[in-house]
Amino acid sequence: MDEHVIKTYRRAEPVFVRGQGACLYTDQGREYLDFLGGIAVSALGHGHPKLVEALQDQVGKVLHVSNLLRHPYTEEVAERVTRLAGMAEVFFCNSGTEANEAALKIARKHHFAKGTGRTGFVALEGSFHGRTMGALSVTHNRAYREPFAPLCGEVTFVAPGDADALRRALARQPAALILEPIQGETGVHELPHEFLRLARELCTETGTILIHDEVQCGSGRTGTFLCAQQAGVTPDIVTLAKPIAGGLPMGMTLIGETLSGTLQPGDHGSTFAGGPLACRGALVLLRELEEGGLQQRIRELGAHLTTALDGLVALSEHVVERRGRGLMQAVQLDPSLDAREVQRQLFTMGLIVNATGPDTLRILPPFVVTQAQVFRAADLIRTAVDQLTAQAPQR
Ligand SMILES: Cc1ncc(COP(=O)(O)O)c(C=O)c1O
Repeated sequence: MDEHVIKTYRRAEPVFVRGQGACLYTDQGREYLDFLGGIAVSALGHGHPKLVEALQDQVGKVLHVSNLLRHPYTEEVAERVTRLAGMAEVFFCNSGTEANEAALKIARKHHFAKGTGRTGFVALEGSFHGRTMGALSVTHNRAYREPFAPLCGEVTFVAPGDADALRRALARQPAALILEPIQGETGVHELPHEFLRLARELCTETGTILIHDEVQCGSGRTGTFLCAQQAGVTPDIVTLAKPIAGGLPMGMTLIGETLSGTLQPGDHGSTFAGGPLACRGALVLLRELEEGGLQQRIRELGAHLTTALDGLVALSEHVVERRGRGLMQAVQLDPSLDAREVQRQLFTMGLIVNATGPDTLRILPPFVVTQAQVFRAADLIRTAVDQLTAQAPQR
């Protein structure tokens, strides 16, 4: 029982003790197909042999040395990730929220150093960037923000795709614009490529720092290392976390060359960040993406997931839309269905997904999922929807 745990999450009852590939197992030996992947974290699935070997090796050597001392893995992770992302340098931290917090601070420090007096932020409606005071300030959901006010003031929210509103907001000379190329927590909504390109142009024109939050959509999940690479857009700062260390806590704030030198010793820091164990996890993922064929596999599996979910939309009148790309997708259900009920039904059938909002099921499988598992998940969703619509009178 978890009566001593603060209830910030509603937990499901079963106790999970083991995982293999895209499956999780309870203490009762029941198998679940994990299409939530620890909320976009378990990229290498569960029990990946190379990850297990690297982590076991590292645990026996050294766990932590602090950022005041060097260890053998920081530099290879930094070299690989900056090259893959087309950025210059990286600040290590432990989560997506912290990565965004650092991004906002870098933007403010940049303007402070230049003496521009620019401190405000522009973010998008539907955004989610985290729960600390800074990251929460640029998160759109009022219910998340209101109880914790006052936050960082001077945040303007603009509707995704509204070019005129974006133009007006940037003309007011904020320090930075922060956006997710695919909004994850509010139901997997892709920003149009033209909007991403326009944001880049306007930020360059107005001297606004452009921050891409790729905590959920990055690290290879949508077919390229960064999602915005598909739009040909390079931001000034990009943040990564969730899957980047194969399941261990790690966040990264990557900067382009123009921001090099903005943070100086003493400006920012984090005790645990970039430690040897998390770096070993990140190296397994990065090497698998680059040399192990995992990036290609994501593209293939993503195409199968698209086919399977498009099939679901074609076959079920209650599944109205598929959204997303690669292994970050969602289906929208018609209003006669409650997505949370469908999620619960699927859980009893052995499929783990989550409902983002009242009508959307989000699908974030590990990158090692198989084609058969992808089609099985789509079949299970269809069966659950059929069962619930057969039982319940139309609302
Ligand atoms: C786009 C995005 N940014 C930031 C965060 C916060 O990341 P974390 O929970 O690791 O702090 C999340 C988490 O869902 C996210 O999806």
